[in-house]
Amino acid sequence: MSSVATYYNEKSVLVTGATGFMGKVLVEKLLRSSPDVKAIYILVRPKAGQLMQNRVEHMVKCKLFDRVREECPNFHEKIKPISAELTHPNLAINPEDTAELLSEVNIVFHCAATVRFDEPLKWMDEFLIEEITPKLIGDWPNTYTFTKALAEYLLQQEKGNINVAIVRPSIVGASWHEPFPGWIDNFNGTSGIFIAAGKGIIRTVKCNVEAVADIVPVDVAINLILATGWYTAVHRPKSMLIYNCTTGGMNPFCWGEMEHHVISTYKRNPLEKAFRIPKANMTSNYLMHQYWTAVSHKAPAFLYDLYLRLTGRKPRMMKLFSRLHKSMTFFEYFTSRTWEWSSDNMNMLMNQLSPKDKKLFCFDVRQLHWSEYIENYCLGTKKYLLNEDMAGIPAAKQHLRKLRNIQYALNTIFLVIIWRIFIARSQMAQNIWYFVVNLCYKFLSYFRASSTLRH
Ligand SMILES: NC(=O)c1ccc[n+]([C@@H]2O[C@H](COP(=O)([O-])OP(=O)(O)OC[C@H]3O[C@@H](n4cnc5c(N)ncnc54)[C@H](OP(=O)(O)O)[C@@H]3O)[C@@H](O)[C@H]2O)c1
Repeated sequence: MSSVATYYNEKSVLVTGATGFMGKVLVEKLLRSSPDVKAIYILVRPKAGQLMQNRVEHMVKCKLFDRVREECPNFHEKIKPISAELTHPNLAINPEDTAELLSEVNIVFHCAATVRFDEPLKWMDEFLIEEITPKLIGDWPNTYTFTKALAEYLLQQEKGNINVAIVRPSIVGASWHEPFPGWIDNFNGTSGIFIAAGKGIIRTVKCNVEAVADIVPVDVAINLILATGWYTAVHRPKSMLIYNCTTGGMNPFCWGEMEHHVISTYKRNPLEKAFRIPKANMTSNYLMHQYWTAVSHKAPAFLYDLYLRLTGRKPRMMKLFSRLHKSMTFFEYFTSRTWEWSSDNMNMLMNQLSPKDKKLFCFDVRQLHWSEYIENYCLGTKKYLLNEDMAGIPAAKQHLRKLRNIQYALNTIFLVIIWRIFIARSQMAQNIWYFVVNLCYKFLSYFRASSTLRH
């Protein structure tokens, strides 16, 4: 019997951010593990011309829900969308819906947030806020971390007698096991960088190769969140507990190892229409990084855009690189340092779980086998994010071989040009050149003569 799963049965749960990456995984797991949950209210806003209802219909059709669809075909009846916009007064929820939420909801999971690191702060004149933002955020590296800290402080101050807990995940990656290994649905953080490396677009990433890459699988974070909900409601800890949901303390894995596993996976299972052969060099050396950015990012992007222009197409590579560089610069703050997070509350909670719950809501990251996880993560980016068919791998490998031959040919032409320029200026280089050409000629003549004799 699972105490965590049983706790959510017959309860009404409110989830914000349910249309997002983590929110969807949370809703799916809740429906699958607690099929008798009374209702899951989700706050949704209309977006990109899509009405709330259409967005929810689209969401429940997505592949992530395939497992729950099989186990519980009418699962969508439990999902109750409520129109809301979190930045508006009273969350822009109409009075009837507010009344229903107030009378029905037992547990709230607040997952909504903008995950842009540089989202402009919004609460007074735009120009003024832009001016004072650096002073306001002080030592915080960006508005994202600053506003997270503000929200945590506000919760401490205003929670009254409500039982509240905070789960702080590090970098959330594709799922480890559930609902499928490698499930991922957005290009944020490491996923976008993995794809860019797999496509051969990025060749250099600035980071500390020995620093811990604190990635946590999304299903681990969601299992911890659900277990935290149960523990907070049933055991009612006296103070508000903060659960750092990280891997670095218990099962460290560094960026250098990550580079190796990502590149080797994409070489064995290439992405379609790669730009170049996957190869990314991680370095903490600023000059080296700048050099490779100019040589292997900006120059090829410029030439490719020139080719697109000349063939009457719209240039796109320079724009893509500038977006990638911007997001890598934000990410650099986290990848060039090693972070130490206490896992005490995570371990404490693990010890509170029954053996059945430890399995059903597993967040024991000591069992995570990194090379296998990274392989599934990269395959997940191919299958779920880029919607590529695994049957296309032989053709993608053939494309990589073609790229390799082009690269060899270009390198050879480049070397010959350099060498010709060099021998035009040096007598000694000329002598070496003629000696080598002569030797090759003799070698070829010898083989031709010996093969004629054999016949
Ligand atoms: N992913 C990570 O690596 C990571 C790491 C640590 C912490 N977190 C935190 O985990 C939470 C979920 O992250 P995620 O990766 O799932 O992000 P996500 O995919 O970008 O989803 C964000 C969700 O928040 C909703 N949202 C944002 N602004 C809203 C607004 N003004 N009104 C209503 N809904 C709004 C979005 O709705 P729309 O679909 O309408 O945009 C979406 O459902 C966030 O609090 C994030 O800061 C994430």
